[in-house]
Amino acid sequence: MKPKNNRRILWGVVLASVCAGALACGCAAQTEDEGTLMETYEPKLVIREDGVEIQRTPSENLSASEEGDGVYHKPVRNVPKNTFYLKADDRGCNACHEDLLDTVSTTEYNHPKLTNDIGTETTVQQCITCHTEGQVTIANSFGGIIHGIHSEVEDADCWSCHYASEDGNDMQLWDNVKHQVMHGIHTSDTVEGTFNFNQDRIVSQDQLPNINWQGYENDYLRNEKTESGAPLDQDMLDNWTITVTGMVDNEMTFSLKDLIENAESVTTTMVEACVEIGDGNNLIGQAEVTGIPLSALLEKAGVQPEGGTVMVNSSDGFNGAFDINLMKTHEPLLVYQINGEPIQWQHGYPVQLWLPGGNATTFVKQVSNIEIAPAEVLESYPPFYLIDFCKPVVGFTNLDEGQVLKKGEPFTVEGYAYAFSQPVKAMEFSLDGGETWTRCDTPDTVTDKWVNWALTITPQEEHAYVLRVRCVAANDMVNEDVVEKMFNVKAK
Ligand code: HEC
Ligand code: HEC
Ligand code: HEC
Repeated sequence: MKPKNNRRILWGVVLASVCAGALACGCAAQTEDEGTLMETYEPKLVIREDGVEIQRTPSENLSASEEGDGVYHKPVRNVPKNTFYLKADDRGCNACHEDLLDTVSTTEYNHPKLTNDIGTETTVQQCITCHTEGQVTIANSFGGIIHGIHSEVEDADCWSCHYASEDGNDMQLWDNVKHQVMHGIHTSDTVEGTFNFNQDRIVSQDQLPNINWQGYENDYLRNEKTESGAPLDQDMLDNWTITVTGMVDNEMTFSLKDLIENAESVTTTMVEACVEIGDGNNLIGQAEVTGIPLSALLEKAGVQPEGGTVMVNSSDGFNGAFDINLMKTHEPLLVYQINGEPIQWQHGYPVQLWLPGGNATTFVKQVSNIEIAPAEVLESYPPFYLIDFCKPVVGFTNLDEGQVLKKGEPFTVEGYAYAFSQPVKAMEFSLDGGETWTRCDTPDTVTDKWVNWALTITPQEEHAYVLRVRCVAANDMVNEDVVEKMFNVKAK
């Protein structure tokens, strides 16, 4: 939590001085008070521990009328709109919570783990991705929970989190509308920069997504072992077996140790992404994994022609499933090493299934049984078990809301894009809220890996801008949510 700012106290003082001035000098321009107001309502600039400067509210050029706002008969603007009228610095979750990920990670309530840090900034939009009906079973509506938590918080009134206007859009979240209502954000119909991409970035096991309630208590126990540094249990691996059952010619039991020693392992780079990822989110990562191709086991057991669904069962009862036809183009691996090291407890030591292009619901931990079932069985699973359920996603990994960039200095904005079973064919950038897009092609990308994009810009004007990014999949689908960051360009 950030300490509360002292604007509340200043507020009274400033109003008093305006009134006094008005009484004394009528309506003439008040240069002295203008100065005071501008200084008092200067947007807050914070230098983070990592040295990055953050100014969440754009600076306004207060003496000049802003281009294009079409207001007639207006006196010289002597009151900052953002910080005085809109109280922008005091609004939105980040006015009080420096980092929402920390907020949910440090609550007394044991919130599902979301702590894999790949550089993205957690926004309230990400909370809503999960806390939405139909996503995960949640007893209370998100607004309901957040209202309750803050009901006793001094200073948290409706306008701390909401924006309402006469447009009939009800109580919108300030964080979702602020870029449209704040003054001083400059637009441009072209985005100039140098674009690069690769598909190589890998992250550590700690940075891979891992939600600790997937297998209920067992996940909590597995996570605890990683957190407490409990040594990996070699006996457990040595005695681990995987059975193949169901519609096969020969039901078989495989020893993991034997497979590791004698079957041909494959090492490849693959993405793991949560079905709940949503745009801009951190619930995605890529690693170099080593495992035994599932097809090697199925070939030995002999899948019968009626077999249509591969059910993947964990020793703790968790179960995932996918269409067996996927195996013609996507080779699932029984992974026992990540980045050349034994798989950690939290990811399902000694063995986890990884399905290229799939989402984490099929990345079953501690796999103990593979059952071949009829095709219809897959229909009884929720739609997110289908490989084409997940849509393109993008995120910024080194640009946070309000970040200050230096005028005239190149800055490389970085992020990821992933479209699950589709290749990513282009990245698009906009500096005018999505009116116009500048397209950068990403030719020859492969599906099982994410796209690490990098756009080097050299801002020449001291303004605030909002950079929006989206990714275009090979089937022309683009990500659904708005992913954008405001940045402030300042002279050195
Ligand atoms: C005006 C300041 C303010 C704003 C704005 C604000 N919060 Fe809070 N929030 C607080 C304070 C203070 C607490 C601690 C309340 C307590 O412990 O009783 C809190 C607690 C929380 C908690 C519970 C943390 C815990 O330890 O149990 C969550 C979750 C949370 N806020 C999320 C949000 C989200 C999401 C938003 C934006 C929609 C938001 N907050 C906006 C001040 C604020
Ligand atoms: C990956 C999905 C996911 C994301 C993202 C997520 N949550 Fe949750 N959250 C859950 C689940 C699941 C529960 C448990 C719900 C239950 O027990 O009914 C939960 C519970 C909570 C609770 C306790 C109240 C309750 O209904 O049980 C609070 C408060 C909360 N989340 C706040 C947040 C905030 C704030 C964010 C954004 C920073 C966030 N969550 C992001 C999945 C998520
Ligand atoms: C700490 C932040 C916070 C405060 C303070 C707060 N709200 Fe909310 N409110 C939320 C969040 C978060 C949601 C859920 C938005 C969503 O799910 O899209 C919400 C949802 C709502 C909704 C439903 C809006 C819709 O169209 O879906 C209404 C109405 C609402 N709030 C009214 C209020 C009123 C009135 C107050 C003051 C008494 C208030 N809120 C104070 C955070 C807050």
